[in-house]
Amino acid sequence: MNILGIESSCDETAAAVVRDGTEILSSIISSSHQLHAQFGGILPELASREQLSYMLPVIQKALYSAFPNEKSIQDTMKHIDALAVTVGPGLIGSLLMGVETTKTIAFITGKPIIPVNHVLAHLYANMTQTETIPFPAIALVVSGGHTELFLMKSKTEYQWIGGTIDDAAGEAFDKGARLLGFGNEGGKAIAKAAQLYTSDISDTKLALPRPLLHDNTLNFSFSGLKTALQREWVKQSNKPNIQTCFAYELQEAITDVLVAKTIKAAEIYNVSSILLGGGVAANVRLREKFQLRPQQFQLFFPPIELCTDNAVTIASYAYYHQLTHNYRDITATPSLSVEV
Ligand code: KG4
Ligand code: ZN
Repeated sequence: MNILGIESSCDETAAAVVRDGTEILSSIISSSHQLHAQFGGILPELASREQLSYMLPVIQKALYSAFPNEKSIQDTMKHIDALAVTVGPGLIGSLLMGVETTKTIAFITGKPIIPVNHVLAHLYANMTQTETIPFPAIALVVSGGHTELFLMKSKTEYQWIGGTIDDAAGEAFDKGARLLGFGNEGGKAIAKAAQLYTSDISDTKLALPRPLLHDNTLNFSFSGLKTALQREWVKQSNKPNIQTCFAYELQEAITDVLVAKTIKAAEIYNVSSILLGGGVAANVRLREKFQLRPQQFQLFFPPIELCTDNAVTIASYAYYHQLTHNYRDITATPSLSVEV
């Protein structure tokens, strides 16, 4: 079964064709990320306008890349069995571009649509790597807007068991990056700077908090960490080599909490595996720390390019859920809940 997935929840416009939830026939991503740099954050209006200009070329490229022998878009569409689209959560203007485009394609072609929750879909990047994930599993989705823990009983049954009570881990990376002078390059820039840090290049003493590390819940909190970082930065920013030291400690603080809470959940629910997904799962230090987990838990994380927003995850999720809808019943839902 070939599914055309479409993702437009934020500043990425993505389309992909995935066969049977696992085999990636194509994956195309365009992003307006750089355009937002001057505004110090994503400008929703600009993001949705850019979605509008990227949407059809991205879908076209995904279809031709998947079926290179076909001479027309209509011919490529003959190979598509269903459409899948992110309906939420995300920015309303951006979501609408993907949702309405997909509905139009369904209207013209008569293909069924499978609506997709973008946050849950992040986990399906793992399904494209292996078909043999032992369940039950604890799944951690860490992205720019979400830090959520799920108990997954199978590829289709989840229970939300904890999440952030304020900011997401990705947001702490993003705000930290801006504060430390890395612009809007977010966690990627923090990770790069942190790699350069060694304790002998700076005599700075910096110990950021590990929020909720030892509490009894499976929740996270990153807003106090951001404030602590800011307070220390005001005091110490004029010291030499200070940026790398701050980047290192911020990354250590965030990853310590993510790993500890996920392993705690795995122990409580006595699961067989741990699954990671979302943009922050691209973090190499996070992966290193997870390698040191108790070995009874098998670990699965996606390749770096499938961690951040893409449409492969949307098409793969759709394959395992196959709850098709008439295009009239599909609506963009910015605050779609993840507490399933
Ligand atoms: O999943 P994603 O592409 O978009 C959302 O759904 O939010 O995640 C984006 C987030 C950003 O906060 C970005 O800073 C973070 O993923 N990110 C990273 C890394 N690469 C991207 N965080 C830490 N280390 C990275 N290497
Ligand atoms: Zn995402």
